[in-house]
Amino acid sequence: MTIKAVVFDAYGTLYDIQSVADVTEDAFPGYGEIITQVWRIKQLEYTWLRSLMRRYRDFAEVTRDALAYTLASLGLEYDEATFARIIDKYLHLDLYPDALASLSAMKDRKLAILSNGSPDMLNTLVKNSGLDQVLDAVISVDAKKTFKPAPEAYALIEEVLNVPPAEVLFISSNPWDACGAKAVGLNVAWIERVTPEAMALACLESETLPPLTMFKILRTQMDTLGVVPDHRIHGLAELPALVSAQRS
Ligand code: LAC
Repeated sequence: MTIKAVVFDAYGTLYDIQSVADVTEDAFPGYGEIITQVWRIKQLEYTWLRSLMRRYRDFAEVTRDALAYTLASLGLEYDEATFARIIDKYLHLDLYPDALASLSAMKDRKLAILSNGSPDMLNTLVKNSGLDQVLDAVISVDAKKTFKPAPEAYALIEEVLNVPPAEVLFISSNPWDACGAKAVGLNVAWIERVTPEAMALACLESETLPPLTMFKILRTQMDTLGVVPDHRIHGLAELPALVSAQRS
């Protein structure tokens, strides 16, 4: 099998969603970590709920709704400027340090993002982080008005890139996303950034589990959904070698 296209999830895979923590902590001292974790958990939950309810709203709106829920649920009052400053971080998320070098090393393949993000959010983020220099396409699920892991969302890869699933390697660190992609026949590499051993240690080390540990338990460990990704890697830096090894 030859891999003709390498397609990435965006949030959590190329971009570190935890990098909002500085802004949330600055806006609400002492609450940064809990806001950061509840916000992301609710954001994804709302994508799945809206998909099931067939009441699609784009990811920008879902992200705002999830932040509003989070702040209200913690009893925090805020003004519009504070809210806007936190949301703005989604357009300036930190790239994982190994992202640019890894993508640059695979420029002989088609490189793309397939994300739940809305087109405006994604295009701005990609430009702000310089990935527009290396990506061939930025694909948003918005074209299908539903969110990953709906099969229609992954179908966009073939529709836009004109490469069949058997010749695509899809990369995600989000376990549910890796499972969704595998379920529709894509080749999948899951980035295991947090090992179960590290989780076990984190649980042993603290009597009360901090919100970040809870988040990692919920959203970084492989899900039990009846599908298994083809590859398990630990960082984006491992990808160029993996992709070359698939060439036959
Ligand atoms: C993405 C989020 C859901 O699709 O990780 O980029």
